[in-house]
Amino acid sequence: MPDRNQQFSTEQSDLLMQMLAARRDVRGNRFLADELDQSDIDKILKAALHAPSVGFSQPWEFVLVKDKQSRCTIAESFFEENEKALQQFRAGNYDAAKLEQYQALKLEGIVESPLNIAVFYNPKKGPVLGQTSMPEMGRYSVVCAVQNMWLMARSLNIGIGWVSILDPQKVKAALNAPQDRELVAYLCVGKVDKFYDQPELETLGWEERKAEQQVVLSEGY
Ligand SMILES: Cc1cc2nc3c(=O)[nH]c(=O)nc-3n(C[C@H](O)[C@H](O)[C@H](O)COP(=O)(O)O)c2cc1C
Repeated sequence: MPDRNQQFSTEQSDLLMQMLAARRDVRGNRFLADELDQSDIDKILKAALHAPSVGFSQPWEFVLVKDKQSRCTIAESFFEENEKALQQFRAGNYDAAKLEQYQALKLEGIVESPLNIAVFYNPKKGPVLGQTSMPEMGRYSVVCAVQNMWLMARSLNIGIGWVSILDPQKVKAALNAPQDRELVAYLCVGKVDKFYDQPELETLGWEERKAEQQVVLSEGY
């Protein structure tokens, strides 16, 4: 049995920080088509199952999607939704250069990655301990699982890209998801030719990383 009361060393904590900082969102321009080892997929899923959840409700479900036809159907939803996104940016008074930049962005890797994982919220019937005042806590628990997967994948040198420019109803239909399930995340998973050392959107000048002083407050606003 592993020692759950294990104390970690400074070197181990530094290594965790190194992995946190090296985690990247990966898109279709970086994925390799190589199949993933089942043992690696198992580790990523095991990491998900160790995430915290409100009331230990574990309200997550993971649908592994390798079938090319299903991935193509879901990719079609991305293209439709991305057209709508562009219209929103147009209506939002973005200048021509920014619109052009948006159009040039690669924002998914649904077909390029060998494995997609659709992560669903399976709401529990009846009250959940800890979720009675803030119902969104169930969904947040599912997001914790996603982050665990993202980090475990990175530690295995596997990339994950989160695609949210999708019609959740179309994804649900493609995967025969029951009515009450909610799509939380659609992940593209695969080996990569390289990991960037900073977010692509930072490199392209779309957004900058915020400094700690901008977001950390002492004793209130
Ligand atoms: C909730 C969520 C949804 C996201 N959706 C998309 C998406 O639809 N397309 C995309 O290219 N990246 C998406 N991303 C990735 C972010 O753009 C990325 O995390 C951010 O630019 C920081 O880069 P990094 O993850 O490489 O550090 C999403 C990330 C999160 C957390």
